[in-house]
Amino acid sequence: MTIEAYAKVNYTLEVLGKRPDGYHALRSLVVPITLSDTLTIDATADGDLSSDTGYPDDLCLKAARVLRAAAGMPSRGACIRALKRIPAGGGLGGGSADAAATLVALNELWSCGFQPEDLAELGARVGSDVPALVLSRFVGPVLMEGRGEVVTPLAAERAGLPSRHLVLVNPGVFCSTAEVFKRCRPRAAGASARNDLEAPAIALHPVIGEVKAALAAAGATDACMSGSGSTVFGFVPDDAEARAIAEKMRVCGWSAWAVEWLSRLDSNKV
Ligand code: C5P
Repeated sequence: MTIEAYAKVNYTLEVLGKRPDGYHALRSLVVPITLSDTLTIDATADGDLSSDTGYPDDLCLKAARVLRAAAGMPSRGACIRALKRIPAGGGLGGGSADAAATLVALNELWSCGFQPEDLAELGARVGSDVPALVLSRFVGPVLMEGRGEVVTPLAAERAGLPSRHLVLVNPGVFCSTAEVFKRCRPRAAGASARNDLEAPAIALHPVIGEVKAALAAAGATDACMSGSGSTVFGFVPDDAEARAIAEKMRVCGWSAWAVEWLSRLDSNKV
């Protein structure tokens, strides 16, 4: 089976406080976008799980193990191959999107019979962003709360997104999520930042601030960093404008993509 693993941007991300388990309590509007990795997943009956993503902490394998244990099917195996386009350490949820697509694909290939909500719950054992990326495949934008495990569909019209078209710009620096969270102070009353991780990420990598300024100067509106960085996104009225601005950003030496956000990716609805 071939399946697209769609990246996300965090349209908003509030850090509400530190939890007793060391993670942070968040509230974030997570929006799936058309930038994707392509996974090719074949089921096997030999109990072997393999993946070629090359990450030391491979979230596809972790997702496959979690699903197999929950389904009580120890003899199931899978061979996962990934064509990567989503940059690592870019705040676009690349590894988590791959894990979410793996859960959805193997649920079908192994005939596990889990519903989307069950898969989202299993995703929380794989990584904080995985529940949101599982559910958003079925419903589009979602509100993510808690550590990431509380996810609620958000009707597109309520999401308040300025346009369907976005430009993403990545300056090529790797942002460590743990490092950025460590430097983040919980939100003060009346704070107005759209992403509370933006200031600590810019303190670590000032180029992110340069990218944000360049994107706004090129005409994109509501420019903001995604997740824990380093990608910045902004909105434009149409695809032609998105492509033109992406090209300008590439001339600055950065990676850039013209994308759209997605309402719903999988055919079954929850
Ligand atoms: O769960 P995940 O492995 O994606 O999280 C990576 C790191 O990000 C955690 O080790 C933690 O430092 C930080 N994090 C956090 N609060 C969250 C999510 C992630 O502090 N809600």
